[in-house]
Amino acid sequence: MGSRGIGSDIVFDTLEKLSSSIFINREVLRPDYIPDYLPHRQEEIRRLTEVLAPALRGERPSNIFIYGLTGTGKTAVVKYVLRKLQEYSRSKGLGSLYYAYVNCRQEDTTYRILTDLVLALGGRVPFTGLSTAEVFSRFKSVLERSGNLLIAVLDEVDFLVKKRGDELLYRLTRVNSELKRGKVSLVGITNDVRFMETLDPRVRSSLGEIEMVFSPYNADQLRDILAERASLAFKPSALSDGVIDYCASVAAREHGDARRALDLLRVSGEIAEREGKEVVTVEDVRRARDEIERDMVVDVVKTLPYHGKLVLLVIALAGGSFESTGDLYMKYRELARGLGAEPVTQRRVSDILSELDMLGIVTAKVINRGRYGKTRKVVLNVEPKALIKVFSNDPRISWVFKNSRDR
Ligand SMILES: Nc1ncnc2c1ncn2[C@@H]1O[C@H](COP(=O)(O)OP(=O)(O)O)[C@@H](O)[C@H]1O
Ligand SMILES: [Mg+2]
Repeated sequence: MGSRGIGSDIVFDTLEKLSSSIFINREVLRPDYIPDYLPHRQEEIRRLTEVLAPALRGERPSNIFIYGLTGTGKTAVVKYVLRKLQEYSRSKGLGSLYYAYVNCRQEDTTYRILTDLVLALGGRVPFTGLSTAEVFSRFKSVLERSGNLLIAVLDEVDFLVKKRGDELLYRLTRVNSELKRGKVSLVGITNDVRFMETLDPRVRSSLGEIEMVFSPYNADQLRDILAERASLAFKPSALSDGVIDYCASVAAREHGDARRALDLLRVSGEIAEREGKEVVTVEDVRRARDEIERDMVVDVVKTLPYHGKLVLLVIALAGGSFESTGDLYMKYRELARGLGAEPVTQRRVSDILSELDMLGIVTAKVINRGRYGKTRKVVLNVEPKALIKVFSNDPRISWVFKNSRDR
């Protein structure tokens, strides 16, 4: 105490270093944050409110089906409207509004979806142990007993149907005619604009009593969305001129996806922050774009089959390119044997290269070598270092690096 001023206090110094030079609140840039104001979706919000309003009087709203490309604000709008309806209902003393929001990509079994619906009604279901039919009848009896109306939102519902068929949807659309009390309204959402066509006509007509389409945002609209969010996320004057415009124009070219635009802005800020800068520049956005692209490649690479990974690894270890597929095959065979794996044929490696080319990870260009025939020059489109990093986390491959370093 005494001799040390506040300026040299280790706690203060550390906190000062930890506090962001860029962000006030980066959480508002995360995809699951729902802002209080959604620019360019006011009309959709109004329409959805009209459709769902009867729920406040305990009447069953029509089923509604919402579709549009990813990042067009479907999830945000639905959650926003439900939250506001709930607030309104409570403030007017109309009691609680019962709704369940289920993302069918995450909750990918009929059992789990039904469990969520029962929970939303205040009922209970054991984690396992019941048959799907039993959970379904429990759902119906909770509904009947309470006499409540449930708004069931099934987001990314195409995942449910692709995996489990449309039986659950069919049964949910029938529930109302089977019950004396209690009702269900369905809100189906999908990013797959052709999904409706794949449904059984009976399900389609009842699920799509009302349909709404969300169209992609253009660059101007994305700019408004970003500006709104940036004012909450960034310190004043942390964004230099052109940053928002640039993010908006990049995302507009990628089919008007607001999620991509927000990601780009967030990562740009993180890059600037990492370097201790106080202002985000357009150059940071360019780097963010590369970084995001690289992360996407990494995700693709992780899901490749084993020999696909080995082929990529061989190219990466060679510095990113091969003059001919024959050389590549020899190196591949060596590596596979070194890892104790049976090499696949040259023909198969050639197919693998074509697949990698299609995924955009490599470019395999046919070269005519006159009387020596044709071969393909193979060039990696990703940083070799980035790939090697992915593989060094793969237990079936990683020890090769230790060996190659020893050599
Ligand atoms: N009109 C908008 N105003 C503000 N943010 C938006 C708007 N539309 C989308 N977003 C944001 O963009 C991201 C993606 O939106 P989301 O609703 O998840 O899209 P979808 O469900 O159509 O794929 C979310 O972070 C969301 O908050
Ligand atoms: Mg969504």
